[in-house]
Amino acid sequence: MGDKTYGFETLALHAGAAPDSATGARATPIYQNTSYVFDSAEHAAALFNLQEPGFIYSRLTNPTVSALAERLAALDDGIGAVVTASGHAAQILALLPLMTPGDHIVAADKLYGGSINQMAHTFRKWDWRVDFADATDPEDFRRKLTPRTKALFVECLANPGGVVVDLEAIARVADEAEIPLIVDNTMATPYLCRPFDWGAALATYSTTKFLQGQGVALGGAVVDSGRFDFAKPEKFPALAKPAPEYHDLIFCETFGDLAYTIYGQAVGLRDLGPTQQPMNAFLTLLGIETLPLRMERHCANAHTVAEFLEGHAQVARVNYAGLKSSPYNALAQKYLPKGAGSVFTIELAGGFEAAKRFVESLELFSHLANIGDAKSLVLHPASTTHNQLTPDQQRTAGAGPEMVRLSIGLETVADLIDDLDRGLAKAAA
Ligand SMILES: Cc1ncc(COP(=O)(O)O)c(C=O)c1O
Repeated sequence: MGDKTYGFETLALHAGAAPDSATGARATPIYQNTSYVFDSAEHAAALFNLQEPGFIYSRLTNPTVSALAERLAALDDGIGAVVTASGHAAQILALLPLMTPGDHIVAADKLYGGSINQMAHTFRKWDWRVDFADATDPEDFRRKLTPRTKALFVECLANPGGVVVDLEAIARVADEAEIPLIVDNTMATPYLCRPFDWGAALATYSTTKFLQGQGVALGGAVVDSGRFDFAKPEKFPALAKPAPEYHDLIFCETFGDLAYTIYGQAVGLRDLGPTQQPMNAFLTLLGIETLPLRMERHCANAHTVAEFLEGHAQVARVNYAGLKSSPYNALAQKYLPKGAGSVFTIELAGGFEAAKRFVESLELFSHLANIGDAKSLVLHPASTTHNQLTPDQQRTAGAGPEMVRLSIGLETVADLIDDLDRGLAKAAA
């Protein structure tokens, strides 16, 4: 898109997606092919040795997926992105260039339950070690640092409990330890939160949620701000020491600022294989076109619904950072000035049994395990997304048994309030 600086809405529509050079097609075509014809044997060898950019095989790169990567990098004001099959795959690929067996990260204790599981159990199989720090206390991240810590990991707006972390303070801890802060910005999206403006080095996404926006395509991404120097051979050998898998090329020397992103594609996607399908990239590109409009309405509806619930006799508590009563409201105003997202929890006055009856009696809200759909969704995290956690971990993550999670969609807000009001009456009966 040239050198001009465009606004967010313009980037959401145009970044990465010029008319197709072969056909003039205005929407990005779905390049469904797996492989690409080489000009010659030399050309093929140059591509395989990373001496020339280009497409080899769609497990590594694909034109539709690359258009999405470029758009996501532009929305975050980053320099590159690796697009993956899911948000969970993005978290693995975000860490792969940084970690060797025995290395360590400090992650927030308020994360999506699946991420806590992934980090606490599956990462151990590669001997990647994780300590969880109190997401509300930046100094706890500092206390948990070890000489082998290679990154800090937080969700800016945590799923599900409406907790907003102090990004700037946590980024300072990362900066002083000379390690990157990784922010899972799924719940806020680049429209509501700008992690790189506050010192984060990397952002991860489940594009499955608000970025795609209609619950029809799984996907994920890692975006590099380009502001962290990975050229430290002792700390980040995969990026800064000779890579035997590529004839001893040194990623940082050969690719400069793009070393981290190219490693993600050339090693991460090539060897682990969690590649996003072109059809999903196409659907996500379409979704992003309307991201700014959708996020505005998501936030406005969520705010109205949260205010209604806060005044309701059957609701003991509403955990929405957009409400003045939230302990995270000041942080939300700083880090999420356009709105505090549309996912939050409520605690029913009738406890666990009432929570179950409530979830089952809603009609417009769909009872399912997703967030960020245009349609409103409801879930009981303790028996689903946070089910594998211990009761202590559930409470810490804001997903105790009496909690219900709402993901407020784009319906007429009065209809949502009617549905919730009827559901609360049934839950109390
Ligand atoms: C905040 C957050 N991060 C990551 C993930 C994982 O994403 P995916 O389901 O696309 O693997 C989720 C899924 O719910 C999530 O809510």
